[in-house]
Amino acid sequence: MIELKNISKQFDIKGKGHKKKRTFVAVNQVNLTWKRGEFISIVGESGCGKSTLAKIIAGLISPSEGSLLLDEVENKINTQAQRARWAKVVQVVPQDPYASLNPVRKIRSSMGDALLYHKMAKRNELDHKIEEMLDLVGLNSKETLNKYPHQLSGGQRQRLVIARALSLDPDFLIADESVSMMDVSLRVGVLDYFKKIASERELGLLFITHDFRIARYISFDGKIAVMYLGNIVEFGDTQEVLSHPLHPYTQSLISAVPLIAGKERRIEEVIPKSFEVGKVYADRQQCPFADRCPFARTDCYEQKPLLKTYNGNGSSSTHQVACHYAEARELIENV
Ligand SMILES: Nc1ncnc2c1ncn2[C@@H]1O[C@H](COP(=O)(O)OP(=O)(O)O)[C@@H](O)[C@H]1O
Ligand code: SF4
Ligand SMILES: [Mg+2]
Repeated sequence: MIELKNISKQFDIKGKGHKKKRTFVAVNQVNLTWKRGEFISIVGESGCGKSTLAKIIAGLISPSEGSLLLDEVENKINTQAQRARWAKVVQVVPQDPYASLNPVRKIRSSMGDALLYHKMAKRNELDHKIEEMLDLVGLNSKETLNKYPHQLSGGQRQRLVIARALSLDPDFLIADESVSMMDVSLRVGVLDYFKKIASERELGLLFITHDFRIARYISFDGKIAVMYLGNIVEFGDTQEVLSHPLHPYTQSLISAVPLIAGKERRIEEVIPKSFEVGKVYADRQQCPFADRCPFARTDCYEQKPLLKTYNGNGSSSTHQVACHYAEARELIENV
């Protein structure tokens, strides 16, 4: 089991015209528990911190605050040896497969390096092992091994980076927007592949997407976390969150992109942005959604709502929401 305890990541940025450095909070005090075999989707607009969170969990960058636990033991990932050990626990399928493949190296070398470095294969069995991995993701190994990344289609490159992540036999797999650059016709096949491989190997699967429909497909029997400006604002069983969203942001996202049928709209048409997401300084004292929230009141600007269990669904509920007025609005709507 992986646990994130109050994980935050800040970046120091120098904006145009600003002499002074500003601190930008990309991930803000995130708590999350992720078990082996569990499917969780993380949903949110571009710039809300999904990839940064994925990189922290995968040990590729360090958090500014908070801790990462494996089976209840705090896990430090600072040295090369610690990173190598963690790579066998968590692997991330990166958002941009092209950027993560060396353009001047053939697929055989790109795949082989990772296997050799992590001692997952001996040199004399390397080709055989790579062929096995490529076959597993439905790539013709004979045709693929001697190609360069640019000679493959987007869908083939995506399957290649999935194969590379799986070749290290991790317990947990993070897929970062893994079908967003892919042709719609290929998406279902790749999503089904993720579900199949994760179920067969009992992997924990964290699927990052900006699209609720993909989240529902992947983690239908699992969980969903909704992120806004670095914060998890709603969390719970996927079917419960989607049928009964409590946070105004989740409600807006779902009404922008109807899950059943209806005209798709841009999220900005439903809730206008009063600033550019990602460029704003994330004030840690106020509700991160206050500037866009139609229900905002004075105290929303004075006190940050914490993620709390919503009790309207019975005592066994795991549905959590970070909004001062979620329960009050529910009561009024149900009168
Ligand atoms: N290395 C970095 N330095 C400064 N800002 C960064 C860095 N990485 C990400 N950010 C900023 O953090 C925010 C979250 O980025 P990201 O995690 O990529 O969001 P998402 O994956 O949800 O689109 C963005 O505003 C991005 O510009
Ligand atoms: S705390 Fe206030 S501003 Fe934030 S989502 Fe709830 S009502 Fe809106
Ligand atoms: Mg991203």
